[in-house]
Amino acid sequence: MTSQTSVVILAAGLGTRMKSKRAKVLHRAGGLTLIEHVVRAAGAIAAPNHTTVVVGHQADDVRRTLGDSGVRFVAQTEQKGTGHALLACRESLAAEPGAAEPGLVVVLYGDCPLLSPDTLKELVRRQCSSDAGATLITTRLTDPTGYGRIIFGDKGDVQAIAEQKAATPEQLAIPYINSGIYCFRADLLWKHILEIRPDNPAHEYYLTDIVEIFGSAGHRVAVMEVDNSAELLGINTRAELAEVDRIFRQRKVQELMLAGVTIEKPETVTIDHEVRIGEDSIIGPFAQILGRTEIGSDASIGTCSIIENSTLGANVEIAPFTWVADSQVEAGAHIGPFARLRRGNRVGPGAHIGNFVELKNTRFGAKAKASHLAYLGDSEIGEGANIGAGTITCNYDGVEKHKTQIGKDVFVGSNSTLVAPIEIGDSSYIGAGSVITDAVPPDALALGRARQVNKEGWAAKRKKKRK
Ligand code: UD1
Ligand code: CA
Repeated sequence: MTSQTSVVILAAGLGTRMKSKRAKVLHRAGGLTLIEHVVRAAGAIAAPNHTTVVVGHQADDVRRTLGDSGVRFVAQTEQKGTGHALLACRESLAAEPGAAEPGLVVVLYGDCPLLSPDTLKELVRRQCSSDAGATLITTRLTDPTGYGRIIFGDKGDVQAIAEQKAATPEQLAIPYINSGIYCFRADLLWKHILEIRPDNPAHEYYLTDIVEIFGSAGHRVAVMEVDNSAELLGINTRAELAEVDRIFRQRKVQELMLAGVTIEKPETVTIDHEVRIGEDSIIGPFAQILGRTEIGSDASIGTCSIIENSTLGANVEIAPFTWVADSQVEAGAHIGPFARLRRGNRVGPGAHIGNFVELKNTRFGAKAKASHLAYLGDSEIGEGANIGAGTITCNYDGVEKHKTQIGKDVFVGSNSTLVAPIEIGDSSYIGAGSVITDAVPPDALALGRARQVNKEGWAAKRKKKRK
């Protein structure tokens, strides 16, 4: 690239058509907020310190969401339109080192998240190699309702943009829409932006008016047509949000399938943008794989399971209807069906966690087993231990949480209650139905229950009396 490119992303609006308390750019599609998608796309043409996000509604939340991206922010305290939003950047951008050079300013709208990096690169390339004052992206839509329409001049340049609300019936019939993605010569933009007037029924400063202003000053506005119109979908309503989310999901499963992941009924699964999955893994119908999840090769995720911000090793098997959140599961472990790893767990290689077992903040040793009905919280389970059905760690005394430590190869009999804090030594046994309140030494048998009493003939006598 010959000249400095800056990007400005407009994201100050509330988005009234969303009918939401939350600012539009903070709604999510494909597992990220809309603004995060746009900032990522912008990365293809400008470094983060040359990217400015205009914030207004819920500015603090938008700043926080983009916290580690390195972009800069400018506040638009009152939302008086897209032209007004861009104007808010004039001072800080014009003062940038190198701003005196013939730089470019690319303007993006924060509600257009499907934009591809290649399209942005091509836009900059076209503008660099033309004598136009600006280039904007258009596409043909079968239903262009809601978008600004491109009015072409004789030579195929853009003469004006007619906004939906102000357009004549003839203009409304034009299928070419303004995508809201523009590349301007910086010097001309900052010189002419002040000429935008709020002379429309909404009394807003429309950035789209700059086209005619450039024209009267003798500067061409060129157009770049993109065939894949899905890339340019702008979100104004929840229905459009759902459509864009669907496109993101479809893209993601396509990308994974091409990389060697089997996805059964791909139209039913939900996989977030940042998820990574190794070759020959199999994802069942209706699975949801969310956040920053990483799954190794040859793993399988059963139908209707949810895996969230977790790391799963190779050959891990997650049976159906299992929920794993903020946890790490090592190679070859088996979890589910109907299990819940709530948070902060680390499950060792080859371990087995079965139905209706809940783990929280627990280190579960290699090859250990908890095959049915258990709650293991704030605990450490040694290698090869066997946790019987119905075992409960009583980790909470009503005020504080306490730790349970279970050694290697321990056998915990069914329906045991382990009252924390408690330590259970290696290779010990706990009799079924025990309530364990004191430490168990290694290799011991602990019984914490009343001795059984048999009263011979008692039931028969009772029956006789009742007759
Ligand atoms: C805009 C364009 C329209 C185009 C469409 C593409 C204008 C006048 N119209 O219409 O030609 O076809 O996008 O999707 O530009 N924003 C601010 N501050 C404001 C107003 C808006 O930062 O004062 C931000 C919003 O947060 C949003 C973006 O600008 O991210 C676009 O605003 P929106 O109101 O959605 O514009 P449209 O009516 O869709
Ligand atoms: Ca919009």
